Amino acid sequence: MVERGHKPDALAVAHTTDIGHASGVSIESDRVKLSLPSGESAEILLYGATVISWKAGGEEKLFLSDKAKLDGTKAIRGGIPLVFPVFGKTTEGPTAALPQHGFARISKWELLGKTSESNTSVQVDFGLGPENLTVDARKQWPYDFGLIYSVVLGKTSLETKMLVRNEGGESFDFNVLFHTYLRVPDVTTVSVSGLKGVTYKDKVLKGAMATEESESVTIAAEVDRAYENVPGAVTVNADGKTLFKVERTNLEDVVVWNPWEGASGMADFGPADGYKNMLCVEAGAVANWHTLETQNVWECGVTVHI
Ligand code: BG6
Repeated sequence: MVERGHKPDALAVAHTTDIGHASGVSIESDRVKLSLPSGESAEILLYGATVISWKAGGEEKLFLSDKAKLDGTKAIRGGIPLVFPVFGKTTEGPTAALPQHGFARISKWELLGKTSESNTSVQVDFGLGPENLTVDARKQWPYDFGLIYSVVLGKTSLETKMLVRNEGGESFDFNVLFHTYLRVPDVTTVSVSGLKGVTYKDKVLKGAMATEESESVTIAAEVDRAYENVPGAVTVNADGKTLFKVERTNLEDVVVWNPWEGASGMADFGPADGYKNMLCVEAGAVANWHTLETQNVWECGVTVHI
């Protein structure tokens, strides 16, 4: 069972709806909205605990497809879907029966409650355990686990954190990744720094391994690379300015993905040229399995600064 010892907070949260005047959390049947008095906001669906909007500096910072299904029938195309317990699709081993990117992004999470709030920051926690899974997902991955996912809205940042707990009697292996769709004005004019010298798996080239030679990675075609053991922060820059700085805790890998014109092959991707306004910079632990021994806990997080 996923609890943090303060579940009654969820009730207190339900009355904090003063958006626009104080930091707040408002709850609707299918989503939670966070806001700061200075105008920043975030919106998280219980389905997948998917952040679908983050507004700061008067602008939307995340890309959300205008054809994304928000009704719980499909993983959300945009925002921050959560990848667990497998990145991509395996054909053998304990995750072989799971769909691409696992079940976290297609399960309905529980709202655990608000854990902190000030004028400059507000945090909510969500939980997922076997009891929240569909019968199919439970069969596909029959381990006893608990996830606590936290979203912290700051004035110039959005932090997402995950705690993974092994509640069963045997160890399990997992990947985790925050599949963040950053909104950019024009992907052809952005560059990504912080990857030089890093080895990556190039999925566009059927998984070929390469080493990044560029200080500033630019996007001019489909890009799907899993950079392994990235040493420091990764920044997304345009016109000599940093649009986003991505800082990770206990997440060694960074996936950079843009489907380019291949987006037209995705039924839930819109508008057709929307790929020009997005770049996925995904912090994760994906190149290698992490093993969690029975009754152990593992924590990680990523902060996106503007
Ligand atoms: C990325 C993967 O993380 O997610 C890509 O590296 C994949 O290979 C992309 O295409 C989107 O996946 P999905 O399942 O949301 O279409």
